Amino acid sequence: MDVARRLDIEARLNAEMARHRPGYALSSAFYTDPDIYELELERIVYRNWILAGHVSEFQRAGDFKTLPVARESALIVRGEDGELRGFANVCRHRGSRVCLESAGSTRRFVCPYHGWSYDLRGRLTAAREMPSEFELRDHALSTLPVDVVHGLVFVAFSTSPPPLASARRELEQPMRWFGFESLKLAESRAYSIPANWKLAVENYQECYHCATAHPEYASRHTLMLGGSKRDRVQRDMLDKLKSAGLEPLTVDRIDTRAPHGETGYGYSRTALFDGYLTGSRDGQPLAPLLGELREFDGGASDFSFGGFNFLLAYSDHVVAYVFTPVEHDACSLTVYWYVRDDAEEGRDYDPTELTWLWHNTTLEDLKIIESNWQGVRSRHYRPGPLSKMETAQRNYLDWLLTQLAEPVRA
Ligand code: FES
Ligand SMILES: [Fe+2]
Repeated sequence: MDVARRLDIEARLNAEMARHRPGYALSSAFYTDPDIYELELERIVYRNWILAGHVSEFQRAGDFKTLPVARESALIVRGEDGELRGFANVCRHRGSRVCLESAGSTRRFVCPYHGWSYDLRGRLTAAREMPSEFELRDHALSTLPVDVVHGLVFVAFSTSPPPLASARRELEQPMRWFGFESLKLAESRAYSIPANWKLAVENYQECYHCATAHPEYASRHTLMLGGSKRDRVQRDMLDKLKSAGLEPLTVDRIDTRAPHGETGYGYSRTALFDGYLTGSRDGQPLAPLLGELREFDGGASDFSFGGFNFLLAYSDHVVAYVFTPVEHDACSLTVYWYVRDDAEEGRDYDPTELTWLWHNTTLEDLKIIESNWQGVRSRHYRPGPLSKMETAQRNYLDWLLTQLAEPVRA
């Protein structure tokens, strides 16, 4: 992008930011302007960690996954030395994707275009008919940072994403309660959303819409309740926490407000309604108790890591939500369902029941996000004020705008 064009885009962005009223929704341009989206990719999307999965998906040397994010693709693989490594999935010959599969196990990656071959450390090991001065060692795959937080595998597309150190330390205890290190993937589904990615994340941030959009969710979770009714169910759950092996705990770096320069994170536990032990159709357990839990306490815990990765831990399973842009007008949500690593499909859990609540809730979300997308493109759209139940979304918008205002240093 030439300098004049960049300055023009930045001027437009600055004007939109100056017009933004704190506590209000964003203006249309933030969602619809493809140039602002280009800046977002650099300043927000590629700069932050994206959850790529769980260590159990990379048990043996050669186990790999690819993760598409906007125009990038990460290749994450376990090496023969046991290390997890990340690479840009871009061939050093003429730029083809090296790996076209979403997951698998291999001893090497052979580019499908002209057959250049890379080992599990990303080193180029074979390239046919190259000139005599050609050096294999000069053409290794570009590396990407990978970090593991109590079993969760994160990848980023820039060299120095904000550290996860505080998240790792502060969330160590709740992640131990739910046995995050010893989960296994039971199911994952990718949902295409024809909307700007921020609308999808914003929708996840607030439960103001739950009562109107999610009848099944709303009859199980108390998050959308206000006042004394919520206090009562929350108190009942807190009584049960201790016998389940949990402590009342809220780690409030939630909503992506990071300790200085680090990735933000959060944890809190909220009661389910009476009669619901977990997020199931009939309220009954879906899988064996997780981690250190001794019994079902009737709660669900929200975890967050930065602005793209959100998890919900019931007593017997964990659901992860990862939002990634595709283009300025399209994004993707991947939902992962995890159970205890020794749980056996068929015997200990039924994938249809396990995924029932959040598959259906996600389909409902897709509809409202798409309608929101249609509305924000209207010439009659004016950003409206946020409610008291949209505080997390408000914080999220503050984070977005702070990130957007910060140019990437070359
Ligand atoms: S682009 Fe990969 S071998 Fe040519
Ligand atoms: Fe929703």
